[in-house]
Amino acid sequence: MVNSFVITGGKQLRGTVDVRGSKNAALPILAATILTKEICRISNLPLVLDVHRMLKMLEDMGSSIRWDGSHTVVIENKDIRPARLGKDTVKKMRASILLLGPLLARFGRVEKMTYPGGCSIGARPIDTHLAAFRDLGAKVTLGGKYFSVEIPPHRRMPPEVILNEFSVTATENLLLFLASKGSTTRIKIAACEPHVRDLAKCLAKMGARSRGAGTSTITIRGTDRLGGISHRTTPDYIEAGTFILASLAVGGHVHIKDAPVVDLDFVIKKLVSAGADIRVHPNKKLVEVRASFGGAGKGGRKLKIDKIQCLPHPGIPTDLQPAFGVLATQVSGPTLIHEPLYEKRLESLTELTKMGARVVVQDPHRAIVHGPTKLHGARLTCYDLRSGAALAIAGLAGKGKTIITNIEHLERGYEDLEGRLRALGADIKKI
Ligand code: EPZ
Repeated sequence: MVNSFVITGGKQLRGTVDVRGSKNAALPILAATILTKEICRISNLPLVLDVHRMLKMLEDMGSSIRWDGSHTVVIENKDIRPARLGKDTVKKMRASILLLGPLLARFGRVEKMTYPGGCSIGARPIDTHLAAFRDLGAKVTLGGKYFSVEIPPHRRMPPEVILNEFSVTATENLLLFLASKGSTTRIKIAACEPHVRDLAKCLAKMGARSRGAGTSTITIRGTDRLGGISHRTTPDYIEAGTFILASLAVGGHVHIKDAPVVDLDFVIKKLVSAGADIRVHPNKKLVEVRASFGGAGKGGRKLKIDKIQCLPHPGIPTDLQPAFGVLATQVSGPTLIHEPLYEKRLESLTELTKMGARVVVQDPHRAIVHGPTKLHGARLTCYDLRSGAALAIAGLAGKGKTIITNIEHLERGYEDLEGRLRALGADIKKI
């Protein structure tokens, strides 16, 4: 069933929205429960498709999973069998690669794992993951549809491994594997994203000590006796950033609660420097955004952004690039959008041209968005998770009716987005 959003734009956003748990933290943390036979209680889980898919993969392998309240699961992995891992589910979600590290740690081998799905934003190979496991001494066998990885359980780990790029899930896979090894290994060129930090915090509770998580060098000393835990998933900085950008692009007065401001320092600085009226509460968890109309800054003057360059954390997150692209249509002047990470992520900007946006794509990694432009309603297609949220923002910012099809992509990472936007006064419904 193809679901769609029907949006009537032109209404400002007003009210308070709370930020849910981070999908990209929840996924590696759920995978981490494979490392112990004891009970793990994970709370503040976002109710999104990718989390349900990860739980399904665990259940297929034999995990005992019980919901305890609306956003908390209790998981027990006493007896799991990797061979039962559903090939189809693995293919549907890139993050299924996060099962590799913990399964390899627990069983010493992963036979015939399906390559995780790529997606419309880029090829997203798993070369970095496999190269890192080879550096740890693993034997990797590549087939057409499947790959296998084997590493003798008692093989001594090297003192250092250097990743081929700042890969988020490759960093997480190494932490998930090394957490169960009694030696000390330094990971260099590690990703610094907040969800890497949250995973390290969770592994520390299980008994694996690490330092440097959140920086590009992480040293981890694991143990073969990892225990059960209770862990609250960190709030989602990408979701918080999405609501900040939506409030600025559409206009209004919005309070964003439970926002991990410390992970959005650079994004907020960039927007305030562009003239945005954004106030951060001293508790560093509440953000207030005011915009008298779409793209407006302090004193009703149009924002001026000039350039958005996405980089690995602590740079501007690539996952906010599509929403920044929508804001760029509402601010004054040309804005260069530089997306060095993904070779196909700028495609969501071309969907905006159907609404009248003026976008000049320079190459697969750079585009110039001219503003301000009055967007009008159109029929749009959602190709991936983050561009889906951006197209919804564009529909709210534009005049008239916008229909967005294939929103199941969007539901992979945002819990009840239409309900929460409606609570802010938006005219949006799912059909
Ligand atoms: C994780 O994907 C996230 N997924 C992605 O979020 C996110 O876009 C990405 O990190 C980047 O932040 C999960 O955490 C489940 P990568 P991952 O290996 O690990 C290139 C979402 O919307 N790159 O960090 O698969 C790299 O080649 C999803 O929730 C460089 O060019 O991504 C790849 O094409 C989408 N140079 C891309 O960036 C670098 O130094 C992402 O790489 C590092 C990466």
